[in-house]
Amino acid sequence: MESSGILGLGCYLPAKKLTNKDLEKIVDTSDEWIMTRTGIKERRIAPKEFAASDMGVEAAKSAIKDAGLKPEDIDLIIVATVTADMAFPSTACIIQDKIGAINSAAFDINAACSGFVFGIVTAKQFVDSGLYKNVLVIGTEKMTNLVDWTDRSTCVLFGDGAGACIVGKSKARQIVSYFIGCDGSGSNLLRLPAGGSRTPTTEETVKNKLHFLKMEGNEVFKLAVKVMADAANKAITKAGLLCSEINLLIPHQANIRILMAVAKKMGLPEEKIFLNIEKYGNMSSASTAVALAEANREQRIKKGDIVALVAFGSGLTYGAVVIKW
Ligand code: ACO
Repeated sequence: MESSGILGLGCYLPAKKLTNKDLEKIVDTSDEWIMTRTGIKERRIAPKEFAASDMGVEAAKSAIKDAGLKPEDIDLIIVATVTADMAFPSTACIIQDKIGAINSAAFDINAACSGFVFGIVTAKQFVDSGLYKNVLVIGTEKMTNLVDWTDRSTCVLFGDGAGACIVGKSKARQIVSYFIGCDGSGSNLLRLPAGGSRTPTTEETVKNKLHFLKMEGNEVFKLAVKVMADAANKAITKAGLLCSEINLLIPHQANIRILMAVAKKMGLPEEKIFLNIEKYGNMSSASTAVALAEANREQRIKKGDIVALVAFGSGLTYGAVVIKW
């Protein structure tokens, strides 16, 4: 029987790599510290002239091709990003024009690192309701523009990239359950202080580096483990499954220690956790999008497998999607 599922997947990673060794020349850090504390070896840096939409376009084109569709077949584009090309128009509108998806509506969502998961859940509602047939969901981020390259506690963590999927009616790769949530009381833990209506851009905000992301790393760490495990458990239970029946957990790639703690909390062995953090660092909403596309491309998922995508991010937002491959 047909129900909402994943029709196609794609991703784009900039070619330029920034290794931990390169970072040693920029801030007071070491490859050893970054590897042991985060699990990150290198991250990708988008070309200067590339914005979130340019990376999103590449990921979108490969997902559309993978689904065997044409841009005109797309009914809706949802872009998850915290690094939009500009405040408005939405990055989704810019991508719609660039790929020639002339029949689609388009809008952005901001759920930070959980954005791609929230995007899939949103897309499913439109497909289930019968309003739209093919929804393109993109997670695209140029995080390296938001980091203060003199702050060693954050600049080592992030990278650039984009991933995309098409959600539509399908006999395979069906979305069997989901859960999304938020704890707004944690909104101060991870934020970009200036440039919005609260603190508009002034010479002062630029001088005080308020256009770079700020993070209470330790607090975020503790909450991340709890909310990711909770979100995944809720979605898995809603699907009528047990954690032990999950074949592959694809988590937001924030920190290897967070991911291992989540695995432990869920009683999952390490080999059931998909990891690419070593190569890309944290790409915010693009992390789960790229990880899902790579897990599929690397044949880490077999037909009939149960896959759980799980993420957390600024907000604090959190969510999980269970897919039967
Ligand atoms: N190199 C060397 N030393 C460093 C570095 C670095 N890059 N960064 C911090 N340190 C130092 C600190 O200054 C501190 O030194 P001190 O003891 O002399 O004061 C020491 O290392 C320990 O610092 P902690 O902050 O306690 O280190 P911790 O083990 O907590 O790791 C980290 C920091 C990696 C940021 C961790 O807290 C973390 O991963 N937190 C979660 C981050 C995360 O997942 N963010 C999600 C963002 S996604 C989104 O929604 C946009």
